[in-house]
Amino acid sequence: MKRNTLFPKLNGIMHGGDYNPEQWLDRPDILEKDIEMMKKAGINEATLGVFAWSMYEPEEGKFDFSWLRKIMDRLYENGIYTILATPSGARPAWLDEKYSEAMRVDAYGVRNHHGVRHNHCMSSTKYREKVEIIDRKLAEEFANHPGLLMWHISNEFGGECYCDQCVCRFRKYLANKFEHDIEKLNKAWWTTFWSHRFNSFDQIEPPYENGENSVMGLNLEWKRFTTWNMTDFMKHEIHTLKAVRPDIPVTTNFMTLYYGLDYHEMCKELDVISWDSYPVFHNDYEAPEYTYLYNAFNHALMRSMKPGQPFMLMESAPGLVNWQPFNKVRRPGNHKLACFQALACGSDTVQYFQWRKGRGSSEQYHGAVVDHLGTDDTRIFREVAEVGELLKKVSDVAGSVVDTPVALVYDWDTRWAIDDMRGMAQSTKNYDKTCVDIWSELLKLGVDADIISQQHDWSKYKVIFAPMMYLLQDGTAEKLKEYVANGGIVFATYLTGYVDKDQLCNLGGFPGQGLNEVFGIISEELDTLYPTDQNGLIWKNGARIRTEVKDYAEILRVKDATVLATYESDFYAGGAAVTCKQYGKGYAYYFACRVEASDMRALFTQILSEAGVKTKELAGVEYHVRVAEDKTYEFYLNYTTEEQYLTNVNGTELLSGQGLDGELVMAPGAVAVVEKQIGE
Ligand code: GLA
Ligand code: ZN
Repeated sequence: MKRNTLFPKLNGIMHGGDYNPEQWLDRPDILEKDIEMMKKAGINEATLGVFAWSMYEPEEGKFDFSWLRKIMDRLYENGIYTILATPSGARPAWLDEKYSEAMRVDAYGVRNHHGVRHNHCMSSTKYREKVEIIDRKLAEEFANHPGLLMWHISNEFGGECYCDQCVCRFRKYLANKFEHDIEKLNKAWWTTFWSHRFNSFDQIEPPYENGENSVMGLNLEWKRFTTWNMTDFMKHEIHTLKAVRPDIPVTTNFMTLYYGLDYHEMCKELDVISWDSYPVFHNDYEAPEYTYLYNAFNHALMRSMKPGQPFMLMESAPGLVNWQPFNKVRRPGNHKLACFQALACGSDTVQYFQWRKGRGSSEQYHGAVVDHLGTDDTRIFREVAEVGELLKKVSDVAGSVVDTPVALVYDWDTRWAIDDMRGMAQSTKNYDKTCVDIWSELLKLGVDADIISQQHDWSKYKVIFAPMMYLLQDGTAEKLKEYVANGGIVFATYLTGYVDKDQLCNLGGFPGQGLNEVFGIISEELDTLYPTDQNGLIWKNGARIRTEVKDYAEILRVKDATVLATYESDFYAGGAAVTCKQYGKGYAYYFACRVEASDMRALFTQILSEAGVKTKELAGVEYHVRVAEDKTYEFYLNYTTEEQYLTNVNGTELLSGQGLDGELVMAPGAVAVVEKQIGE
């Protein structure tokens, strides 16, 4: 695997985060102290200018970048590089006062008032014009600054707008998509139902809260349009910056599994993927291991968007946050584990929101490296500085990547379509959870699967898990067929291939579009179970593991698949529940009901071994591997409160500098990074 270093100037891992000196311009003493303390904490990067519009352009057309230049220069003189943000995430008051069309309109059609952030219309020509001006000025001023590493476009794009300009753009988008033929749209959206036929694209409205929201195709297209429009806005910003200097990379910070935007589409416009990670650590509803696993799922999702390239942890909390239901202080040691988990999953950066706590407004109590106390002798500062030291020891990891033979299919259209379909039980659909649980189970087996969309290149993977792949994009069925025929192994579940890309049900048996040939079954009915309903599986191989069925069970008609398990009770007792069919050179597994992911572990182990994928089951320790050229870097993370004793670990442990000869003893909360020559 080729080493792919994001920022060669850094000679290692980036350690930094959001820094808002514009809030402290009247305190030069504090700004000087910041630099001193950043050096103590091993900081080599600062993200500047996020939400700084009113300081860049205090009045329309009057620009002042002098303060920023001073700060960037001082940081650079001290070995600290800058990621510079465009300020389009929040607007100054003068802009809204003069151009009210820039403000967003809500789902009832009511225009918002000035304030908060991401409260702007992505279609507004005035807003786009103003953003272009400020972005161009910024690029002209700073694109050639030696400290500039990257552009950070806006901040956490999100939300949607229902204003007249957006409605107009939506209609144009639809007209384009359906080739200006309203009959095509009527057919795709099944509008004869309830007399919802349209005569022209001009009659179409977005799915207002108090309007048309019973047409599945419309709901889905609106979500796709919102992604398209947001991406178009972002492209506009990128274009402005790149016109001044094309070689500075761009990113925008994504938010976990953010629901409203299809990141698989947005990511195509970015040079590097970055995201903001705020797990609810130390909560009262799950074992700590699961909070970390969920976070790892997110890391893997981001990493998989740009194969062969590290991603960036753009924001994380060095202490507590201020917006979770309970804003608990992060326990000692948690910081190191969370930072190294990002690295383990393929990040080349550890960045925070934020460097210093502000004194006022809504984030005054949000954690930061530097507290209101203002000194470096706090627990949080010490933990950050410790990470800073440790990151220097693993600088060689930079540019290495996770290279895995296993992937899980997860995508936004499927999320939206499943949630919007009227059926099943709204409270137990749980598409996200099902994907996260299956992925986590694989990670517990030491398999750090990529998370890909239906459009990704599947050919490099030996096994693909595709839970609840309800919606089939054009071409997916063919792709899956070809993949299995050529020797791939697919694991699919209940709810596969019910609808096409417009959410029209596939005819001729689910999984549709010919996939029932691949799996050798037809799913004839889908039963929804009450939480009190009970059923179980009987495994044909004689395994007597009790496997509880919950939430959903499909009733199958087996054509030419081998039955691996049957239902235990109800009127479909004895009917097939888990099947496998050899198709061409590969195998297609079908799990027709929902069970706990841990109850599928034995089957997963068997599938992975059939595919020749190595597993490494380490109770209590999370395990990941990165590779670069002739080296591997194994990451071990002990989240438990107990010491863990591992065998078969060889190489050099980079944090301690020790050579390992098979044994690794990990204290509670310990992390280890073991470097090995490939072939050693
Ligand atoms: C997001 C934003 C930041 C800040 C943090 C607080 O990630 O990007 O500006 O508001 O949340 O956790
Ligand atoms: Zn709008």
